[in-house]
Amino acid sequence: MMHTKADGDKLIRIAPSLLAANILQLGDEVAAAAAGAPDLFHCDIMDGSFVPTISFGYEIVSVMKDHTHIPLDIHLMVVDPDAQVDLFACLNPEIITFHLEAVSSPSSLIEKLHHLGIRAGVSIKPESPIEPLLELLPDLELILVMTVEPGAGGQPFMLEMLPKVASLSAAIRDGGHNVMLEVDGGINAETIVAAVRAGADTFVAGTAIFRHLHGPAVAISELREIAFRVATDDSAT
Ligand code: DX5
Ligand code: ZN
Repeated sequence: MMHTKADGDKLIRIAPSLLAANILQLGDEVAAAAAGAPDLFHCDIMDGSFVPTISFGYEIVSVMKDHTHIPLDIHLMVVDPDAQVDLFACLNPEIITFHLEAVSSPSSLIEKLHHLGIRAGVSIKPESPIEPLLELLPDLELILVMTVEPGAGGQPFMLEMLPKVASLSAAIRDGGHNVMLEVDGGINAETIVAAVRAGADTFVAGTAIFRHLHGPAVAISELREIAFRVATDDSAT
């Protein structure tokens, strides 16, 4: 499998989660966050079955897509990711991530995403082990480690997920794989420090960005600055 990763060498990526935006002012929220030049817009698609809640779906994301040039990072928390891939593909997202727990053959869905020209991400819930992901490393572009139970924003970061991030980071580095390592849930100016140290490079944040006192653009710059400082400090020592 050959798939180009245009931004594969970026040290830090910040991905605001639109789940925490005020849905009644979605256009303004998207514009306010875009002003902070995020790397990706993270869209949480929840079907009320794979997770208890229903968020938004293709229609809302397609309207939002018309209002921004920021690439989309679609996080499918659904029982049938294959069907949603068919829908979302026409929005030309940068990445679609599905849950390992929702599929019987992750390789086929990865292949389908590549065939559609979309980068493939695979996510695991907090209780899932990392081992099944290891054999997929040569074939995918992103791994998403959930640092809260998927289904809702505003939950506290699960520190106990850090060893998983660290093991995956080591496996990616040791194998020479060009794979982004994303964390999602409870990321803020404090928790991002530990997540960077564990080896994550792509950070989803909802509450910490959209509920920031000084607005999303300031929040994005702050998170980026902290993460970048920790990543460069640690690599210099
Ligand atoms: C949770 C979602 C997250 C969520 C993160 O199921 O996958 O993307 O929006 O929200 P915060 O940053 O508030 O924990
Ligand atoms: Zn998410």
